[in-house]
Amino acid sequence: MSQRKMLQFSMGALFLLPWFGGLVLGEISNDFSQCLDVFYNKTPPMGINAAGYQPICQRFKNQYHFASLYHRQHRAPLYSAYILSPADGKRPNTTWMYEPQLAFSRASSEMKHLHIPMDQNVIESQAVLQDYKNSNYTKGHLNPSMHQKTKEDREATFTLTNIVPQRAGSNSGPWNGLENEVLKKYKAFCNGLMYVITGAIPYESEPRWINNRVSVPEYMWSAYCCPSYNTSLPKYAKPFFPTYAAVGRNDRNSGEEIVPVNVKARASVRGYDVRRMSLETLEDILAQRLAMPISLFHGQCQ
Ligand SMILES: *[C@@H]1O[C@H](CO)[C@@H](O)[C@H](O)[C@H]1NC(C)=O
Ligand SMILES: *[C@@H]1O[C@H](CO)[C@@H](O)[C@H](O)[C@H]1NC(C)=O
Ligand SMILES: *[C@@H]1O[C@H](CO)[C@@H](O)[C@H](O)[C@H]1NC(C)=O
Repeated sequence: MSQRKMLQFSMGALFLLPWFGGLVLGEISNDFSQCLDVFYNKTPPMGINAAGYQPICQRFKNQYHFASLYHRQHRAPLYSAYILSPADGKRPNTTWMYEPQLAFSRASSEMKHLHIPMDQNVIESQAVLQDYKNSNYTKGHLNPSMHQKTKEDREATFTLTNIVPQRAGSNSGPWNGLENEVLKKYKAFCNGLMYVITGAIPYESEPRWINNRVSVPEYMWSAYCCPSYNTSLPKYAKPFFPTYAAVGRNDRNSGEEIVPVNVKARASVRGYDVRRMSLETLEDILAQRLAMPISLFHGQCQ
């Protein structure tokens, strides 16, 4: 199938799915209609074959803060989408949260703090802290708290539906560097809103899991869209607007076809490189690895 045909085909599938989803899932909100504002032009990524994915409008303290597309079988998000609004505050002191509506179809869609003992339906429906304990993976934020301005916005990122198993060498190494760099570009040149989508690429042929329950990504990816930016960009900054993207390694033993390794990096972060690239290159990689012709931003953010 041509790229264009496939896109039309998947959009058709997306159009049909809310119907079936509605029948099966009862009260669960099965689209992003309550939180379209977090997407550029109020348009969620297109081309994703929606079967198996659960849209979540991340609601905390009576407000929507961002959105995640949750893969139920993986017990992990495919992506989180948010508007970047940099924090001056600190990382919040909060306990981790879960989403009651994934466990009980009639439950409120507000995220709730995890408490012990945990209901079996909650454990079945999503990742819990026990999955990460002794897993050798950190809890990697897709929407990082330091990209959020208010205390509530930052606290809301501490739901496990915004988290993937991430190696420490990536989380506190090159991936952290990317998150800082995106903040800097926003502050230096972005005049309006910056829309960010950050996600995971699972292993291709042999999926990996922690605790036999939560899918481990082989790569992380991220892209932003800043439609309104400084019109007199210095030459070096021109490739960064209006869009920019990156893919980061989450396994130092992966091949180097997608992200090459800098063998001179210091040992603690070696093999967790992040490769900067254009939005188009990222979309090509996603199309290939996820077998879906994903278009992240409406009209390529132009
Ligand atoms: C963080 O919160 C916990 C529990 O609410 C509390 O026991 C602890 O003292 C707090 N830590 C800080 C640094 O405020
Ligand atoms: C975590 O790493 C340690 C040290 O390499 C290893 O002994 C242990 O089996 C690992 N745990 C898991 C769950 O993979
Ligand atoms: C645009 O960027 C240039 C170079 O960094 C800076 O000198 C200028 O003040 C910026 N203009 C606006 C309107 O932010």
